[in-house]
Amino acid sequence: MKIAVLPGDGIGPEIVAQAVKVLNALNLDISMTEAPIGGAGYEAAGDPLPDATLQLAKDADAVLLGAVGDWKYDKLERHLRPERGLLRIRKELNLFANLRPALLYPELASASTLKPEVVSGLDIMIVRELTGDIYFGQPRGISTLENGEREGVNTMRYNESEIRRIGRVAFDIAMKRNKKVCSVDKANVLEATELWRQVMIELSAEYPEVELSHMYVDNAAMQLIRAPKQFDVMVTGNIFGDILSDEASMLTGSIGMLPSASLDANNKGMYEPSHGSAPDLAGKNVANPLATILSAAMMLRYTFNDEANAQRIENAVKKALALGFRTADIWTEGTNKVGCAEMGDAVVASL
Ligand code: IPM
Ligand code: MG
Repeated sequence: MKIAVLPGDGIGPEIVAQAVKVLNALNLDISMTEAPIGGAGYEAAGDPLPDATLQLAKDADAVLLGAVGDWKYDKLERHLRPERGLLRIRKELNLFANLRPALLYPELASASTLKPEVVSGLDIMIVRELTGDIYFGQPRGISTLENGEREGVNTMRYNESEIRRIGRVAFDIAMKRNKKVCSVDKANVLEATELWRQVMIELSAEYPEVELSHMYVDNAAMQLIRAPKQFDVMVTGNIFGDILSDEASMLTGSIGMLPSASLDANNKGMYEPSHGSAPDLAGKNVANPLATILSAAMMLRYTFNDEANAQRIENAVKKALALGFRTADIWTEGTNKVGCAEMGDAVVASL
């Protein structure tokens, strides 16, 4: 198993170090090679996705990524900014299917800002399309109009095949779960998502056992807070999925708990926490490494077909929580507040 390890910026290096520690503790036949991305790529090679990093990722079976971004790069030209490195690697590797499971660990029911009875037992899989939509649509840019005023343009764009392939991922996952897919769109206003809805309906004919429903994105944002347990699998486009997955993360107590997998058509994948680089927390040993550790579990499950070891990691996380270990973001009265590295150690000890 060849894994490209891309720690990135901010808290990226410290959280990735914990996931690497956990993978090493499993004694599998893995080789891991590190390379810079994001701001770290810019510092090392003047490019947020250096050629050598892209090549390493292409040659690997899977990529483990921390996070990218730091405010200090906000003034760089857009193509040099850290986020561009992340978007480019997703596109270059054709990682169109982003899976973001929002799962509430019973021990964390009181860490959520919602009432325990609203979130207890929560288990949602958000399937976000990752290589299309307004993130990549042309035309885009900021230009100056004839009257001297500036105008910013982005384009929401989806073609049928892009919608169908992400739909298929969602339906296939639903078949292994509770057989419910909620497709989220804004079909009352946006044509790109009207097509999205049509294609989802066409596709559902191939999955007679799956119950397909549709929801406008504004309503979905509301329903996630009002009654999140109504959802099984949610499938949506790139930008709506970006926003809804951050929202869903708070149902689980902290965004520091939400892993993700980004897969291509052959289950090659990049695995990263759903959260960002949190530069304000970097280097302080306070970040929550569990989203990254759980992303490593997803890597074993989806790319390496190793369900047993994926569950070993997930059970070790559960055990560490049951033993009372908490990073600051999920700490509640009466539990044991630990740092990032100590949480990694607690998971290793629980394996
Ligand atoms: C995410 C992040 C990224 C995105 C940013 C960092 C470009 O928010 O993975 O959700 O918008 O996709
Ligand atoms: Mg996001």
